[in-house]
Amino acid sequence: MSGQPHRYARVWIMELKKIHLKSFGCQMNKLDSSLVTAALAERGFVLTDKATEADVVLINTCSVREHAEQRVLSHLGHLSHLKKSRPNVLVAVIGCMAQRMGEHLLAHEAVDIVAGPGQLHDVPDLIEQALTNRQKHLRVLDNIRQPAESETIRTLSDRLDKFELAYDSDADPIKSQAFIRAMRGCNNFCSYCIVPYVRGPEVSRSPQAIVEQTKKLADRGIRQITLLGQSINAYRYTAGQKTYTLADLLELVSAIDGVRWVRFITSHPGRFDPSILQVMAALPKVCPYLHIPAQSGSDRILKAMHRGYTAAGYLDLIEQAKATVPELALAGDFIVGFPGETEADFEATEAMIRRVRYKNCFVFKYSPRPGTHADKKLADDIPADVKQQRNARLLEVINAIAEEDNRAFLGRTLEVLVEGPSKKPHLNKAEHQDNPQLIGRTANDYIVVFNGPQSLTGQFATVRVTKTAALTLFAELT
Ligand code: 5AD
Ligand code: SF4
Repeated sequence: MSGQPHRYARVWIMELKKIHLKSFGCQMNKLDSSLVTAALAERGFVLTDKATEADVVLINTCSVREHAEQRVLSHLGHLSHLKKSRPNVLVAVIGCMAQRMGEHLLAHEAVDIVAGPGQLHDVPDLIEQALTNRQKHLRVLDNIRQPAESETIRTLSDRLDKFELAYDSDADPIKSQAFIRAMRGCNNFCSYCIVPYVRGPEVSRSPQAIVEQTKKLADRGIRQITLLGQSINAYRYTAGQKTYTLADLLELVSAIDGVRWVRFITSHPGRFDPSILQVMAALPKVCPYLHIPAQSGSDRILKAMHRGYTAAGYLDLIEQAKATVPELALAGDFIVGFPGETEADFEATEAMIRRVRYKNCFVFKYSPRPGTHADKKLADDIPADVKQQRNARLLEVINAIAEEDNRAFLGRTLEVLVEGPSKKPHLNKAEHQDNPQLIGRTANDYIVVFNGPQSLTGQFATVRVTKTAALTLFAELT
C-alpha cells in the first residue's frame, strides 16, 4: 500500500495541463482573459509563462488598430513554428479579432479554436473538447448587430453573466484592486471604430450582479473597484419602475463596506449626464478621475467621426466637470491622421489639448478598420509620415503640460494605494529589500514613487511629494 499515494500523486501531476496566456488590447480584454483562466484553473489547468512548455496557448486578441492585429498574426507565426516540434500544443484564439476574422483565423495552420468575446463562457469546454478530439472549433456570432432585446443577445448575455459571477472579475488580491464589467458592447458607431462590430450591442449588467460581485471582492480584501464599459456613461438598467444610471450604480457600489475607491472607464462625451459629476463630487469614495476621449478638436473631423458633439460642447462639459469636482484629473484619447485631417484641423486638436490640460492623454494614428463607415466611405489619405509627425507633436505638448502641472504637487501630502515594488530591477536589488522603491497611485490616478516596506503593497499610505517629473511624482512616506 505504501506506493499507492505516490502513484496517485504522479497521475495527478500528469493530468495538470499547462496553459500559456497572451492578452492583447484593453482592460476589457484583460478582464475576459482572467475570467477564462480562472475557469480553467478550476478544471485543473495551471498557468505557465513559457509558451514552449504549454499544453494550451490562449491568445486574447484586439482589433482596434491594424497594428494590434499584425502583432497577433506574427505571434501565430511563432506558434506555427513551435507546433512543428510540439504538434500537440493547442492554440485557442479568442477576443475581438476572433469575432472579426472567424473562419480566416481558423484556417491558420497554428490555430485550433476561434471564439469571440460573446462566447467566452464556452472557451473552457471548447478547450477540453479539442484536447480530446483534436478537431478545430469555431464559435463566433453570425449576426452580432442584433438588437439587445433579441432572443440571441439576451440568452448570450445571461450566460456571460453567470460565467462572470462564477469566476469573479479581474481581481488582484495583492494589490487589493479589481475590475468589474458594468456593461458590454457599444452602440455609438463612431465611424472609425471596430468595437460595435466585434463586441455587439450595448447590454448593461444588473446592479444586483455588480453589487454582489463587489461585496464578495470587498470581503476578500479588495479596496479599489474599477467599473468597465466601452461607453460607461450609457449604463442603463431597468428593474420594475426604476432605471439605474451610472450615477446610481456609483452610489450603490460606494456604499459597500470595505470598498475605499471606485473608478469607472471609459466615458463618452456625448450624452454625459451631470449627475455623474455630482456623485463624483459628493461621494468621497468615487475617485475624481475622468477618462473622456475627445478624439479630435476639429468640428469638421468630429462630424466625420460621428462623435455627436462639437469642440465647444466638449470644452463646456470639461469646464463644468472641473468646476463641480475638486482635484479632478482628466484623461483623453486623440486620433491623428483621420481621413481629410488638414493642418488646421490638427491645430484645433492641439489647441484643445492646451485648453483641457490632460493628466493622461493617449494619441493614436488613424488605422482603417474593415467594415467601419470611415473605411468604406473615406480614403485613408494622410501619409504615414504626416501621421507620425502629428503624433509626435501632440506627445510633446502633452508631456510639457504634464510636467508643468505636476510641479504644483511639490511639497503636497497625498494618499496613495500602494501597487507594489517598482519593476525597475536596478532600484530593487537584494540590498534594498527592506525598503524597496514602491509605486502608488492617488485617487486621481497620479503615479507616485517612494521607498517603503514591501508589506505596504495593497494598503493605503500617506506620502509627501519631494520631486516631480512629467509622468511621475517622487515622494517619501510621512
Ligand atoms: N484608428 C486609430 N485609433 C483608434 N481608436 C479606436 N479606433 C481607432 C482606429 N481605427 C482609438 C480611439 C479610442 C482608443 C481606444 O483607440 O482613440 O478611444
Ligand atoms: Fe478592447 Fe476594442 Fe481592442 Fe476589443 S478592439 S480588445 S474592445 S480595444
